[in-house]
Amino acid sequence: MVSSDAPARSSWSGKWGFILAAAASAVGLGNVWRFPYLAAKYGGGAFLLVYVILVVTFGFTLMMAETALGRKTGQSAIGAFSSFGKKYAFIGVLASLVPFIITPYYCIIGGWVTKYMVAYIAEPAADLGVSTYFTSFIVNNNETYLWLVVFLMLTFFVVALGVQRGIERVNKVLMVALIVMSVGLSIYSATLPGGLDGLAYYLIPDFSKMSVELVVAAMGQMFFSLSLAMGIMITYGSYFQKDHDLEASVRHIEIFDTGIAILAGFMIIPAAFSVTGSADAVAAKAGPGLMFGVLPQVFQNLGIAGNIIGFIFFALVFFAALTSSISLFETCVSIVCDKFDITRKMAIIIAAAVIFVVGIFVNMGYNNLLWMDPMYSLFGFGTYQGSQLLDFFDFISNTVLMPIVALLTCLFVGYIIKPKILIEEVKQSSPFHAEKLFVVMVKYIAPVFMVVILVSYILNAAGIINL
Ligand code: PHE
Repeated sequence: MVSSDAPARSSWSGKWGFILAAAASAVGLGNVWRFPYLAAKYGGGAFLLVYVILVVTFGFTLMMAETALGRKTGQSAIGAFSSFGKKYAFIGVLASLVPFIITPYYCIIGGWVTKYMVAYIAEPAADLGVSTYFTSFIVNNNETYLWLVVFLMLTFFVVALGVQRGIERVNKVLMVALIVMSVGLSIYSATLPGGLDGLAYYLIPDFSKMSVELVVAAMGQMFFSLSLAMGIMITYGSYFQKDHDLEASVRHIEIFDTGIAILAGFMIIPAAFSVTGSADAVAAKAGPGLMFGVLPQVFQNLGIAGNIIGFIFFALVFFAALTSSISLFETCVSIVCDKFDITRKMAIIIAAAVIFVVGIFVNMGYNNLLWMDPMYSLFGFGTYQGSQLLDFFDFISNTVLMPIVALLTCLFVGYIIKPKILIEEVKQSSPFHAEKLFVVMVKYIAPVFMVVILVSYILNAAGIINL
């Protein structure tokens, strides 16, 4: 058993230190790039509704569990689980695989953002708005390797030089700028021809669009966006002071993160409607390229103003992405450090090498390995036809590993260590308002729901049942 006296550990500067660090990790490409394309793909309002429900029930429970576990044990993922018995270390190990799968492809998208940021200085906005611009940039074009390496190096250097605190301080200001800019662009998007139809599609749930695939996608997105089910929040919780209110902090992070994702949808979905013309066309076209295909078409008719707006926008997204990739890479480094008991410097070199090699490999999915269709040919998932390695890596982490880690975490908290131990941890600093919700979710609803949803998803994909 663990003593409640955690070993001396550096801690956040108060409640806001934690919230800001967690928000810097949470708000990133997941909000601006991934959320809007999933919402566009899975029926707009229906997806939005499911997502919000999942965040306030499931996401809340898991984030409370992870942060309380971290604060209680004063350890990162593997140590936190194994401090209750060596045999539980595997949950931490599984969780630790996730950042190694996400970071490489996250940095590929980070590279695309960097390219667009620079392109808005170097090329007329009208050229960037040409509909084939994006595909000719990512497909069979060695330039993407360059931007991937640029983004990777930036991430590695910030972590190696230990300057992320400084970056995160700047990020506070930039995040506000990102919000202001997104509000402005959202209003503009709504005024485009067809924009209001897009708004209706995004806000009014059409229940005929509900499907298991939608729920699975929303669940994976929730883990991704809130940085859950990969051990990060356990580590962050371990830096959390014993006398600060955990529950309130978790709420703040959720509201902030979800708010920015919803805002990004306001900006991108009506614009996508205006560009493509109908809900079906938007859903068919929605994928990793949505943001890069749609926004430049919005900026293209604005002349020089288009260049300025395009540059500022992608620069803000670039910073949000960088603070998240830093947090992802930092997690990889601390995993290597703890696991192999080596110096931080060695760990940085090893983690960087692994991510570099995997990143190059995933990027080959748009080049030499373009012929592969991993989701379709490997799993026979009809709806994923035309997939690339990036989709495959995204699938393995968000749809396979994270739900498994989340399920194991709930079972571990619900039945092995019992919720009470974490509830007491939370109550050390403040009352736990949603205590009942937490217990019921962690013990019953979350595990049952996840098993049902995942099993039906697999049976459905395998064609055994038809949902
Ligand atoms: N939550 C981040 C985003 O939405 C991604 C991320 C996941 C960052 C996990 C760190 C850890 O972009």
